[in-house]
Amino acid sequence: MTDQTHRTAKLSVGEKTLDLPMYSGTLGPDVIDIRRLYADGDVFTFDPGYTSTGSCESAITFIDGDKGELLYRGYPIEQLAEKSFFIEVCYLLLYGELPTAAQLEDFENRVTNHTMLHDQMSYFFRGFRRDAHPMAIVCGVVGAMSAFYHDSTDIRDAWQREVASIRLIAKMPTIVAWAYKYSIGQPFVYPKNSLDYASNFLNMCFSVPAAEYTVDPILSRAMDRIFTLHADHEQNASTSTVRLASSSGANPFACIAAGVACLWGPAHGGANQACLEMLREIGTVDRIPEFIARAKDKNDPFKLMGFGHRVYKNFDPRAKVMKQSADEVLGLLGIENNPTLQVAKELEKIALEDEYFIEKKLYPNVDFYSGIILDAIGFPTSMFTPIFALARTVGWITQWKEMISDPQLKIGRPRQLYTGPTARDYVDVEKRG
Ligand code: ACO
Repeated sequence: MTDQTHRTAKLSVGEKTLDLPMYSGTLGPDVIDIRRLYADGDVFTFDPGYTSTGSCESAITFIDGDKGELLYRGYPIEQLAEKSFFIEVCYLLLYGELPTAAQLEDFENRVTNHTMLHDQMSYFFRGFRRDAHPMAIVCGVVGAMSAFYHDSTDIRDAWQREVASIRLIAKMPTIVAWAYKYSIGQPFVYPKNSLDYASNFLNMCFSVPAAEYTVDPILSRAMDRIFTLHADHEQNASTSTVRLASSSGANPFACIAAGVACLWGPAHGGANQACLEMLREIGTVDRIPEFIARAKDKNDPFKLMGFGHRVYKNFDPRAKVMKQSADEVLGLLGIENNPTLQVAKELEKIALEDEYFIEKKLYPNVDFYSGIILDAIGFPTSMFTPIFALARTVGWITQWKEMISDPQLKIGRPRQLYTGPTARDYVDVEKRG
């Protein structure tokens, strides 16, 4: 943040006029610093859902919702999706710059060395009910990492923070794959360090000890691209949850488990599962108008899953890449006539021409097409959100590291507009009427 305290916004509160400092970032709208508002003006701001509140200063990811632009450390997501790959993107997010060849090799080695889980953790998995949702297992196991890796829970130690970050990025594919294997009653497959990040994940999900399995490079590339597109998204609900949890000084594994829990909801990461289920429910193109009408009906809680975004009021740039990827993957697999893809394409076309969606600036988001690719790869819908969590872990951990190293770190503690009863005296039970 550049120091521009000479610029102020004036706010009149009753008799008082407050001069509130203003700052500019490198991109995006200016901000008004309201930190002294309560002390000087005896008032709070009221912003449920935080639509006008900047909660932190960050140099990681930038979104221009009107333009439909997403930058990781300044690099456009379209360029990264086309030219880079997930492990390089992880390095970029964590350390701020694209790595040299030597830095990349060293980083890949470090991640690869941490892919195995403490063997006792396999018993922990077995404690879950067979029919548990994989997100429930992932949430529990990530939180439980703090019980297995005591040597990387001291957040004041920069080295331990680094080890925890690498461990989380390295072990998430193993945790998510094992949650899947457990849910279908197949043996856990150990990581294979000769494979790249995405191929290793696919191998742990789809190979079995009884048969040979070779990872299809087309699917591995599609998987890697899904990871890249989901890697970070500035201060969204789950990232803000991670930041809030960590503001109290909680250990990194507990904080990331909090992020996983928040991501699960259908308004956030759970939308990819909900979207594919909706597309299947629609089933055929002729039923689309019925569902569009329901989405517009104020008395019907139904929403078109995969449409709309708090920040994007234009095409989600990730959805554009994802759509292209879905076409490629389904084409290469020879299943381009997939009825779900047909419904998705037609639904997108109709919604984009509809007055309601135009007026409210509701465009397809990243979840609209990701489910179609994951389905083609062979994942059940219950695995879609855990895969999102796997990819977002690097974003969460990068934001966590940025926050912990900030000398201005304070516990996150919003205020409220209280509308409950005023103070009153306790009444004994026999006197209550
Ligand atoms: N279908 C129909 N109408 C919608 C939709 C939708 N998908 N999304 C928003 N609207 C309508 C709302 O009903 C509201 O109408 P109103 O002004 O008449 O009351 C208006 O558009 C504004 O919507 P809000 O819910 O206020 O917008 P908000 O920014 O709070 O919510 C959200 C954004 C949660 C993503 C919402 O658009 C939604 O629920 N979409 C479907 C779920 C989804 O796809 N989530 C994934 C988000 S991306 C991600 O997390 C990776």
